[in-house]
Amino acid sequence: MMHYAGSFPTTRMRRNRQDAWTRALVAENALHVGDLIWPIFLTDGTGQRVEVPSMPGVLRVSPDVVAEHVAEAASLGIPAVALFPYTPMEARDEDGTGALDPDNLTCRAARALKAAHPGLGVIGDVALDTYTTHAHDGVVRNGEVDNEESVAALVTMSVNYAKAGVDIVAPSDMMDGRIGTIRAALDAEGLQRTRIMSYAAKYASGFYAPFRDAIGSLTGPDRAGPKDKKTYQMDPANTDEALREVALDLAEGADMVMVKPGLPYLDVVHRVRREFGAPTFVYQVSGEYSMLMAAVERGWLDHDRAMMESLMCFKRAGANGILTYFAVQAARLIKAG
Ligand code: PBG
Repeated sequence: MMHYAGSFPTTRMRRNRQDAWTRALVAENALHVGDLIWPIFLTDGTGQRVEVPSMPGVLRVSPDVVAEHVAEAASLGIPAVALFPYTPMEARDEDGTGALDPDNLTCRAARALKAAHPGLGVIGDVALDTYTTHAHDGVVRNGEVDNEESVAALVTMSVNYAKAGVDIVAPSDMMDGRIGTIRAALDAEGLQRTRIMSYAAKYASGFYAPFRDAIGSLTGPDRAGPKDKKTYQMDPANTDEALREVALDLAEGADMVMVKPGLPYLDVVHRVRREFGAPTFVYQVSGEYSMLMAAVERGWLDHDRAMMESLMCFKRAGANGILTYFAVQAARLIKAG
């Protein structure tokens, strides 16, 4: 497709921008409520609604109130929520065995959600980080995250989640070969309908810090969490490598792929969608949320404008859907027109 630019004064780009209705007609992208996925933090106990210190307005909720917590999201038409359990240090162990418990927080919340909101999609994050004392996403052996042993744990977790009602398992661990292994295990259990959203291009990012606060993973004497996850998450310097990751996950059976973080990685979102045309998701991560909210709290940015613009940019880059802590607020604004 070729575009021939005219020249001034015959061609005036401002002509199409002069009224709201013309701007609407020529808009190339739109943000819909159906594009939004809302991440939810879970905590044990009853009647719990605890604010996450580094994420203003974001709560951890207990399984007995989770259905009520998402009721507005469901009625606004948000298609799915993604579950992330908070685990205090004293409830963790070296190998993250809590991940394998068929009655863990995610499983209990999934059952409660499917009972109360059968039409709402439930996504379960598959990784060991919230269950291990070192907060790595897999099992550590001889100082290294062991690929095969970690994948074995992820498989058990995925099958448990699916049996508890999780519709989409979302491995966020970046181990090699986990998508194909999980797919085979699900199919062997008769769980062919369970979808896999792979965190395909997940970078070793500094923007996850507030999330680690939210799930209780600020481990170590300085509470910084694992210093880095660079032996399994991707180097921010790379994009061709992201395409190879996506190609492998799709070949192994991923139904949807994700790029993460979001705004600093829009080029990756764009290339992934262009190259594969597969359902492409992006995660506007905790650090992006907290950065925006910190500036909003100081009066430096307008909340609604900054939020809606950031979400629209994901659509422009080619994302089919967005995981965002702003999901409910954005959906309210979209609904209000
Ligand atoms: C863990 C996981 C992380 C996020 C989602 N799943 C953090 C990490 O890899 O350390 C980050 C989400 C966010 O920052 O909002 N497997």
